[in-house]
Amino acid sequence: MDALEGLRTRLIVEGGHRLEGSLAPPGAKNAALPIMAASILCEGDVILHRVPRITDVDVMTAILESLGARVREQPGGTLVIDAASLNSNTAPYALVSKLNASFDVTGALLGRFGRAEVPMPGGCILGPRAVDMHLHGFEALGAKVDLEHGCVVVTASHLRGATIALAKPSVGATKNIMLAAVRAQGTTTLENAAQEPEVVDVADFLVAIGAKISGQGTTTIVIEGVKKLHGCEYTIIPDRLAAGTFLLGAAMTNGDVTVTGVDPNMLASMSDVLASTGAKVEAKGVNLRVRGVPSWNPADITTAPYPGFPTDLQPPVVAYLSLAKGSSNVEETIFDARFVYVSELIRMGADITVSGRTAHVNGVPKLKDAVVAAPDIRAGGALVLAALAAEGTTEIGGLEYIDRGYEFLEERLASLGATVVRASGVAPVTPLPNLGNTIKLPKIVTPFRAQSS
Ligand code: EPZ
Repeated sequence: MDALEGLRTRLIVEGGHRLEGSLAPPGAKNAALPIMAASILCEGDVILHRVPRITDVDVMTAILESLGARVREQPGGTLVIDAASLNSNTAPYALVSKLNASFDVTGALLGRFGRAEVPMPGGCILGPRAVDMHLHGFEALGAKVDLEHGCVVVTASHLRGATIALAKPSVGATKNIMLAAVRAQGTTTLENAAQEPEVVDVADFLVAIGAKISGQGTTTIVIEGVKKLHGCEYTIIPDRLAAGTFLLGAAMTNGDVTVTGVDPNMLASMSDVLASTGAKVEAKGVNLRVRGVPSWNPADITTAPYPGFPTDLQPPVVAYLSLAKGSSNVEETIFDARFVYVSELIRMGADITVSGRTAHVNGVPKLKDAVVAAPDIRAGGALVLAALAAEGTTEIGGLEYIDRGYEFLEERLASLGATVVRASGVAPVTPLPNLGNTIKLPKIVTPFRAQSS
């Protein structure tokens, strides 16, 4: 898929169909990207299975190739990465600027070459994307950090193990510091580490290539440095965020969807919320089933690091609660500006006011079709859910974001009975970040009336 495709196309979503059936989610984007970066450390081929076919993976592939790696794609979501021929420690701005996760190559290049030059990621629509904790971690390992012409330049004659306490459990800092520490001399103890399943997957991959790591999935990760890391064959975990989006879709369309091959514990915080609103949630082995009900209760939610409610499911859950029988408050604690998409839900008839970091969501009896556009990946998921539950046919732009995170979205939704097609034409324009604290659009809201079952 070329980079401009998302700008030229739209999703046309016919509302009013129940989502019904079962599906296996794709591989987790937020594990696949850092694991691809980690392959820089390996002498030997890395064979990765269940790599999602999304544009973020294409960008990471291009970054690895620009550094001298050879990347081959095999059918069915397998990538073979040969980093033996890597000949550069400088990542190109044009590619890194497209993808925040590309900063993960810094730790891997530092571990491999003792030098990394990577453009500073800067901000994105979700708010500033600071990397101070990544850089403090590299310094604690003995590296020197400079900023030259907008690039972070990290150098070390040798890395040595250290005890590093993160100011907060940053997913990116935990992964990046692990990537460097696996090649340090001695033991690194990472305290207040992120516990996200994707962080565990990166640690498990590093173990598969010969690293010595324990404590992943807890707040303290211990890494004993090794001299060499080899190739391996590894399967990425399923994407809990894509899975969660489909399950919220089931709840929102009075549907019945089972995601297969997942660890239901990864979605426990979302399952608890769904159950509290009246949806039927059933976890059996590696299957998680959600059955919707015709009308559901509101819920108050605060996003938090894992195992708390994931910020990446905040936009989809706000879409769900916009049709609840009452008022919900959803507080965002991870990112500064993650409510940009709310203006688009309001265009569909939602009654939402954002004040500071909290969205006050007054449930409405129905959403209606509109022309809307996604300002970021997960907002795209939210708008698709809203369109599936709305009356009429909604046109969604911003596919360049949706395609960054959701593999074969239309096909997967079609397999559950939805009517979603990609159409060419001029795409609706994505909303800009709201720099103030409050989003208020003129709105015409139908007062809530109980829906009959
Ligand atoms: C990861 O971003 C994910 N991305 C995000 O997924 C996810 O929303 C986020 O973790 C939280 O779960 C990938 O894994 C590729 P953080 P990351 O470091 O690593 C601040 C998606 O849609 N911070 O935990 O950037 C930071 O500004 C996305 O799939 C610092 O202040 O998240 C943010 O407010 C988007 N200093 C908060 O911490 C630092 O050095 C959490 O960031 C690092 C982070």
